[in-house]
Amino acid sequence: MGGSIRYLITGGAGFIGSNLVDKLIGNAEKVIVLDNLLTGNLQNLDKHQNNDKFKFYNHDIQNPIELDEEIDHVVHLASCASPFAYSNYPINTLKSGSIGTINALGISRRHNAKFFLASTSEIYGDPEITPQHENYWGNVNTLGPRSMYDESKRFAEAATQSYVTTHNLHGSIARIFNTYGPKMAFDDGRVVTNFIHQAINNQDITIFGDGSQTRSFSFIEDTLDGIMKILNHESSDVFNIGNDYEITINELASKIIHLTKSNSKIINKDLPIDDPKQRKPDLSKARKILGYEPKYDLETGLKETIGWFQENYK
Ligand SMILES: NC(=O)c1ccc[n+]([C@@H]2O[C@H](COP(=O)([O-])OP(=O)(O)OC[C@H]3O[C@@H](n4cnc5c(N)ncnc54)[C@H](O)[C@@H]3O)[C@@H](O)[C@H]2O)c1
Repeated sequence: MGGSIRYLITGGAGFIGSNLVDKLIGNAEKVIVLDNLLTGNLQNLDKHQNNDKFKFYNHDIQNPIELDEEIDHVVHLASCASPFAYSNYPINTLKSGSIGTINALGISRRHNAKFFLASTSEIYGDPEITPQHENYWGNVNTLGPRSMYDESKRFAEAATQSYVTTHNLHGSIARIFNTYGPKMAFDDGRVVTNFIHQAINNQDITIFGDGSQTRSFSFIEDTLDGIMKILNHESSDVFNIGNDYEITINELASKIIHLTKSNSKIINKDLPIDDPKQRKPDLSKARKILGYEPKYDLETGLKETIGWFQENYK
């Protein structure tokens, strides 16, 4: 990417967004972050506050906003993202995914900017096929405890697609699979953060269910690489982004106990309703069209993440 690109990143004070700002700002002309700090943290952006290329708006994307700056890319990340956050803020999550996405699409249209939507593997629900390919329509319970998130993202995808077909907008969608790494909030309730936080504090590690459910975890650097490849891609399309190495939750807990040299014991609690039994991206489309290839193995990514948690949260 050249040095003349201007980005608007909604949700840019969060985990993925702030890591993306770090990556983009060197080669960008301007990076504007718009965030209401619901789950994000301004500290994540501390090092950019005095940079002329950087601008922050404390704004809720559920409300329309007119921006004077020129914008080339709208990167729409603003949404609650962890089960803990979206079940605490269900209506807010639905409004961010629906009204918020329409507002972000409107900014894109007015500025003649390309649009990028951070969608999620959760749109596949509790999948009946594995791995999940982009053509799979999913198995989502519209009334279940995760529905506010899953359905808000499904709406956001439909809205993006409608702006692409109706207004000829350039709109791309990344279905991001479980991503972890530095700058995650230790209290966001996601499995990697829970386990690391419990392990470094020698607390019991809580596994929901018998731990045989699987997930595929993507280190933030690989997810960012996928996002940047999509931002550079010439046509509107949808891609799974993540890592297709699949692991059971039991294996993940043992790995984190081993890497932190923790004395934590594993305890089991009831599996929440609609917790997906398996999750694995089919990355063949991203590999073929974008040349995407995850490079971080789980152990390397976990070591970096654990190191960051030990420095920031112990
Ligand atoms: N981290 C993952 O594993 C993952 C997986 C799939 C999809 N995603 C998607 O990626 C995006 C970023 O996720 P994250 O992990 O960085 O989560 P995060 O909670 O760290 O970041 C989300 C950011 O959006 C902001 N926000 C929320 N509602 C807003 C609103 N109405 N207006 C303005 N800002 C708002 C929050 O304050 C926060 O800074 C989300 O859209 C999420 O759904 C993440």
